[in-house]
Amino acid sequence: MKKNTSKMPAVNGTICVAPSILSADLCHLGEDVSRVAQAGADWLHVDIMDGHFVPNLSFGPAVVRSLKGFTDLPLDVHLMVTNPLNFILPFAKAGADLLTVHVESQDDTVQALQAIRALGVKTGVSLKPDTNPEMLKPLLEYIDLVLVMSVYPGFGGQEFLQSAPAQIQAVRQLIHASGRKIWLEVDGGINAQTSPVAIKAGADALVAGHAIFSSADPAWALKQIRQAAPEI
Ligand code: DX5
Ligand code: ZN
Repeated sequence: MKKNTSKMPAVNGTICVAPSILSADLCHLGEDVSRVAQAGADWLHVDIMDGHFVPNLSFGPAVVRSLKGFTDLPLDVHLMVTNPLNFILPFAKAGADLLTVHVESQDDTVQALQAIRALGVKTGVSLKPDTNPEMLKPLLEYIDLVLVMSVYPGFGGQEFLQSAPAQIQAVRQLIHASGRKIWLEVDGGINAQTSPVAIKAGADALVAGHAIFSSADPAWALKQIRQAAPEI
């Protein structure tokens, strides 16, 4: 396969927002994507669910391929699947710019991350809310992004967990101690009220589905999330 040339930028000191198409109107996906792109979305978050790792099904590589041909936004693909090794090549070929695997999956995480990098795609690792952040330590040299789940994965529109800020802080400390440039993305229940909490705890990328796509004014919702300043 020709190497995928990822569009995902390196950590640059800004807060990036990635609307999750799980909450888009799938009968008008292109229109919804255009709207959030025009509103200034940084990346597009694509949730892949296999009905096994999480109790829900979502999209396959064909959706990523269509998005790739439609938008210039980097495609941030979150693999909520039991066996990510089976899906890395199809999603890389389809045009994913970043592929995130779960440490709780059944496959070897280092092997998965090496396979992703070998295809020229940026790498991410995600943690469920109850997973010990220490699991990241041996993985930091292989990753471009950590995705902290601030809800139990599987569905959009859930509430940001109270335990999330401590998890985000712990991951931020690990990244800081490593001296590496690694994005810290937070996923689940992000809105204008919770984004300042996530940012204060150390997030520099935020996924938001319901808050953006269910808003009558997605551009305004996105702006609120991005501009939310941490409380002093
Ligand atoms: C949950 C997904 C999230 C979800 C976020 O399993 O990983 O990306 O779509 O949606 P909201 O922002 O609605 O909580
Ligand atoms: Zn996600």
